[in-house]
Amino acid sequence: MNEQLTIALSKGRIYKDTLPLLEAAGIEPLEDPSKSRKLIIPTNHDNIRLLIVRATDAPTYVAHGAADIGVAGKDVLMEAPTDNIYELLDLQIAKCKLMVAGPEVEKPHGHRLKIATKYIKSAQAYYAQKGEQVDLIKLYGSMEIAPLIDLADRIVDLVDTGNTLRANGLVPMEHIADISSRLIVNQHAYKTKFNQINHIVQQFKSVIEK
Ligand code: ADP
Ligand code: PRP
Ligand code: MG
Repeated sequence: MNEQLTIALSKGRIYKDTLPLLEAAGIEPLEDPSKSRKLIIPTNHDNIRLLIVRATDAPTYVAHGAADIGVAGKDVLMEAPTDNIYELLDLQIAKCKLMVAGPEVEKPHGHRLKIATKYIKSAQAYYAQKGEQVDLIKLYGSMEIAPLIDLADRIVDLVDTGNTLRANGLVPMEHIADISSRLIVNQHAYKTKFNQINHIVQQFKSVIEK
């Protein structure tokens, strides 16, 4: 008998881009999370359900076994504790870059660089590896505002088309990492529900490799 399998996903781009992969594995959600307020979405399999969670929370659900598997951006995984989690597949979706950005013409400053970011761990590691001392300021979003109103000199944020930077008069300056979303799996569930999870992994792989 197939056991209950719970999959943690965030709505928006991750959900949209994971749908074709789920479909290849024969999993079809019975409701659309962009239309429904429901956060636990049943699928065409009685024993498989989707949890609609905040993108930054997906690793937490999987680490605690509240979800067996999930999808999370590498940017999120680099900030999160990853005990109890296997990162099994690069799904090649939600691709972007983690970058340093700032004003094209920077104001002279007599202090350590101030960097506003949601990505404290990644920014810390990046500047440590460069041997540069900076002051990090934690923000939860809309980082692009920070250099415009002198909260910070630069930001560390995700860049895809560059439209958000351009719209706010900023330019990309340094590339930190290429980002894509990963299939993450609870280590215990991977043992106890191996056949079910491995089937999904193999079906996802067959789509990604095309
Ligand atoms: P959130 O509400 O947390 O910002 P998103 O759906 O915007 O959720 O982001 C989910 C993941 O998608 C991020 O962790 C990142 O890996 C990726 N991502 C974020 N912004 C972009 C973008 N502009 N283009 C491509 N991928 C992105
Ligand atoms: C993300 C990210 C950047 C933007 C980059 O924001 O935080 O602001 O995309 O993409 P671009 O280079 O193509 O403009 P998102 O659209 O997810 O909005 P959010 O603030 O709700 O996370
Ligand atoms: Mg976003």
